[in-house]
Amino acid sequence: MDFDVSQTDALLSTTRAVRKRLDLDRDVPNEVVLECLQLAVQAPTGSNQQGWRWMVVRDQEQKRALADLYRRGGGDYLDQAAESTEPGSTMHRVLDSASYLAQNLEKVPVLVIPLIIGRLDASSLGGANNLTTLAAGLLGSIVPAMWSFQLALRSRGLGSCYTTMHLQFEDEAAELLGIPPHLTQAGLLPVAYTKGTDFKPAQRPPVSTITYLDRYKNPIDDA
Ligand SMILES: Cc1cc2nc3c(=O)[nH]c(=O)nc-3n(C[C@H](O)[C@H](O)[C@H](O)COP(=O)(O)O)c2cc1C
Repeated sequence: MDFDVSQTDALLSTTRAVRKRLDLDRDVPNEVVLECLQLAVQAPTGSNQQGWRWMVVRDQEQKRALADLYRRGGGDYLDQAAESTEPGSTMHRVLDSASYLAQNLEKVPVLVIPLIIGRLDASSLGGANNLTTLAAGLLGSIVPAMWSFQLALRSRGLGSCYTTMHLQFEDEAAELLGIPPHLTQAGLLPVAYTKGTDFKPAQRPPVSTITYLDRYKNPIDDA
């Protein structure tokens, strides 16, 4: 199969954290969410376990309650944090945008909470002899699917933003949504059509400055 590399590269380099450009007034049908999730579950999982579950929230009261947890989990402080940064700086823009999302989260048409079977606690270590292995296996079996979901959204004119703030109160969110205790919430993805689709690649350092050959800090030749 021949890919249109310029198209796939554009998708990979312009799928951004979208907050202020989420269209809060346009409905997102379940059909579109399910189509994107169907692509997301092509992602890899440890031992091919596919222990993912997906919670789609569109009820206004449920969204408001999740948004309240999100704000309590840090969203409420983003405004002050933005004020303490240099106006015009990248950090100011990120915090200002993050604050906007926190204040408007319940207005986003759909909130998706990706779930994975398992918990990150010492009693779950099983065959793993350290937390790194457990965390890599557990979150590594849901994060690739989350990103695929975001890519699928982007290619259909929708946008999202990877968020984790409500997880400060993961247990309260689980109670609210009836999520059983053996599942872990990996984050919360607000989903909406975007206002325009002209997103740009972000500034990133040349990877050769952060990539090493054979031994850490041994520079790789970019020729
Ligand atoms: C693990 C993780 C947690 C994040 N948590 C939040 C969050 O709680 N709220 C938020 O607004 N953005 C969150 N973000 C989005 C980042 O702020 C965003 O990816 C970053 O600013 C870079 O922007 P870009 O994705 O457009 O390049 C998170 C991203 C990741 C990967």
